[in-house]
Amino acid sequence: MRHLMSPLDFSVEELDQLLDLANDIEKNPEKYAHACDGKKIATLFYEPSTRTRLSFEAAMMNLGGKALGFSSADSSSASKGESVADTIRVVSCFADICAMRHPKEGAPLVASLASSIPVINAGDGGHQHPTQTLTDLLTIRSLKGHLDNITIGLCGDLKFGRTVHSLIEALVRYEGVKFVLISPEELRIPDYIRDDVLKASGHEFKEVIRLEDALPELDLLYMTRVQKERFFNEDDYVRMKDFYILDKEKMQLARPDMLVLHPLPRVNEISVEVDSDPRAAYFRQVQYGVYVRMALILTLLEVEVC
Ligand code: NCD
Repeated sequence: MRHLMSPLDFSVEELDQLLDLANDIEKNPEKYAHACDGKKIATLFYEPSTRTRLSFEAAMMNLGGKALGFSSADSSSASKGESVADTIRVVSCFADICAMRHPKEGAPLVASLASSIPVINAGDGGHQHPTQTLTDLLTIRSLKGHLDNITIGLCGDLKFGRTVHSLIEALVRYEGVKFVLISPEELRIPDYIRDDVLKASGHEFKEVIRLEDALPELDLLYMTRVQKERFFNEDDYVRMKDFYILDKEKMQLARPDMLVLHPLPRVNEISVEVDSDPRAAYFRQVQYGVYVRMALILTLLEVEVC
């Protein structure tokens, strides 16, 4: 039985197959409409979510299955003191697969060790968010045609932004990817990503503060929200929250084919006037998230569709 804790749990070849499957699902949804008839996904969300939880549930329903779960720790037995290990033992009796989001780094991993069904990490604290990375990879590959030889700017809260951590880990496995890390001093990428992932991989990367300086050279701009819930101090958040605002004027500095991605939710970091720019791909990205989660459910449940 396989779980998904990090994007590295799949080899590059397996990832290619998963993305191919997601593209086939996009083209032929009816072929997959009953692939998971009678199966259930449990979504155990101890932290807020809109896209991730609903896209997992939609993904299972699109495959003919059903979904059950909870959307906050308060409404689960966690509020009575139950451990994630006990909760997953119980949920294993109700569902065939589970997606878990938790504020504590490593909680889905602890759950997976006690589970008799596949567990998917749907975001653990400021650590990893592998299914957002699958979504990002599918979006990039579908819209750009390839994952190698791209210059990607990652902008915003690189310290707490788990989607950025997972995406960097995944992209260093492709040739010729260059990284421009755009953040205020206080929200720089954690050392373990800079040293153990970026430096260790030998990929070209640089850290800059001004978005304007980075924009002209980018093939992709991955914007992120300042992660309010991870700050210890409200004043620090208030000082940082509007550090970057991508607007029409700044978009003029970018290449005509640069894509703007964002895992969403967006707060102020992308002005709504950018939404109508053909380079804005963040809402298309959400749709890819459903296809890739369908592909992931089929893969982890070992369901073959001919
Ligand atoms: C992201 C997350 O939860 O880390 N959201 C998502 O799942 N698409 C990004 C964020 O919350 O800023």
